[in-house]
Amino acid sequence: KKLLLVDLDCGVDDAQALMSALAAPGIEILGITCCHGNTTLDNVCRNTLRVLQVCGRSEIPVYKGASAPLLGYGHSIHASNYHGKDGLGDVPDLSAPGLENVQKEHAVLAMLRLANEYSGRVSLVATGPLTNLALAVNMEPSFPQKLKSLFIMGGNMESRGNVTACGEFNFTCDPEAAYIVLNAYGCPTYIATWEFTFKNYLSWAFHDKWINQETRKAEFMRKICAHAAEFTEKCSDTEEDWTKGFVSCDSYAMAAAVDESCVTGAINCAVSVELAGTLTRGMMVLDITGKLEKKNKAFVITKFDMEKFERFMMAALK
Ligand code: BDR
Ligand code: CA
Repeated sequence: KKLLLVDLDCGVDDAQALMSALAAPGIEILGITCCHGNTTLDNVCRNTLRVLQVCGRSEIPVYKGASAPLLGYGHSIHASNYHGKDGLGDVPDLSAPGLENVQKEHAVLAMLRLANEYSGRVSLVATGPLTNLALAVNMEPSFPQKLKSLFIMGGNMESRGNVTACGEFNFTCDPEAAYIVLNAYGCPTYIATWEFTFKNYLSWAFHDKWINQETRKAEFMRKICAHAAEFTEKCSDTEEDWTKGFVSCDSYAMAAAVDESCVTGAINCAVSVELAGTLTRGMMVLDITGKLEKKNKAFVITKFDMEKFERFMMAALK
């Protein structure tokens, strides 16, 4: 079995990514670590437990991690415009499991423990701000070397952002954390950027077929997606080009982790994150010509096997 660790900020697309991974054959998720981001840390934990319950997979341990960015002075920017205030479209379910079901061990300690226990055999997928990963790197610099591979949804490849002019949400939410993780020498690292994800959208026809399946999981998805769909609709009135199709950002990083052959093209270069720019803080910088003289390079994904991706997504709601 392929072993995965998942670090997320469980909003709508994190839930989609997680449900797809849970449905994929030959995958074992060793643990899910929660990070602030789309919503508060407690909401992220609750949302994760809820998704696992819907999928009948409540045995997978969920850990609580960082509640704020490294330099965030206790505050995180949330993405409630898209994901709703509670992160899953504000359609609470009273029968959802409570926070007492979260493990006692801290997420960062669990990450380090599991990476040691399964050294060289476990891949990590990160679909939220990178605060937990950065803390893990700072506590144990050899942490990235123990991972088989790392898959990140975050950053940008053409200086285009979604929360600021140049900043993608996950990296802008905690730029220092992204910087620490991308500058730690470690394992093969794949990055699904904002522009890559929205340019490789799924068709609305696929979306409708996907979400209208007659299953409990699809019914759950219809509920939690309604808020995001409304927001997308509003943005399409302003002709924002990311609304041309269905974009499930986090699912690309997850699909790549589940089946690396989904990645059919990538730029192999060193990457870093701008921390000081007044307009560009949080922006990912691609060092295509090697000026930064860094030895660790990442694979910045440019092309995907969309047929495989559709199959991966479709299975999630079966
Ligand atoms: C990323 O930001 C979050 O809102 C999504 O869950 C995704 O991880 C896209 O920029
Ligand atoms: Ca996310």
